Amino acid sequence: MSGIPSRERRRVMAGNWKMHKTHSETRAFFAAFLPMIGDAAHCDVVIAPPFTSIAAAVEAAKGSRVAIAGQNNHWQMEGAFTGEVSSAMLVEAGCTHVIVGHSERRQYSHETDDIVSQKSRAALVAGLTPIVCLGENFPERETGRTQEVLSQQFIGGPGALTAEEFSRILIAYEPVWAIGTGRTATPEIAAAAHRFLRQCVRDQFSPEAAAGVRILYGGSVKPDNIQGLMAQEELDGALVGGASLDPRSFAAIVNAK
Ligand code: 13P
Repeated sequence: MSGIPSRERRRVMAGNWKMHKTHSETRAFFAAFLPMIGDAAHCDVVIAPPFTSIAAAVEAAKGSRVAIAGQNNHWQMEGAFTGEVSSAMLVEAGCTHVIVGHSERRQYSHETDDIVSQKSRAALVAGLTPIVCLGENFPERETGRTQEVLSQQFIGGPGALTAEEFSRILIAYEPVWAIGTGRTATPEIAAAAHRFLRQCVRDQFSPEAAAGVRILYGGSVKPDNIQGLMAQEELDGALVGGASLDPRSFAAIVNAK
């Protein structure tokens, strides 16, 4: 349907802990989780703890292949922004990735597409890989506006980067109606959205960029639905909330083939 040739894209399994896990809970998670995933050679594994647990996560993940991400960054490199954290601070703390534009930040902190593109750029300047989130909410899907919303979020957000910048980001399609609701998108619904986003990438950049960009799916991913989702060639991994908090369930998701 898309006419975009697939290219070998390495799978990414990312956990977004949101506002969960203290320092000691983080250490306990890694002690249980790392032995369960072995060398996880078939995919990249990323965990995004809250800021205060990043140091504990980086320390615990040392020597493993698990990368640590921030859940947010500021669009400026530094300055008078009380309560904010810069991309450089995340890098020095040991992060390699940062989640940008999560729907909870769009909803509760009023992040716009423009802010999403500015934060992505700040992350890239500091050397972080942004995981740029987008997705429609329930009324938008119900009224047939999914593609319109995705296209708008794409053009104003990651689509506003240069082609070189874009080549260094990950995208996460997270339909808001599927987040924390247990209402996972069917593999077919997710794949259709990913295919559409890939077309947006081709229109904005190039067929090569469209074939190469890795798009993760997020929204009620669980051990019992991961295989069906990953069977879709369009899905290059998952961004997992609730099910990433338990070492056993996140390990089952990471280990799914
Ligand atoms: P859930 O997996 O809890 O639905 O959360 C998804 C999410 O928001 C990941 O960023």
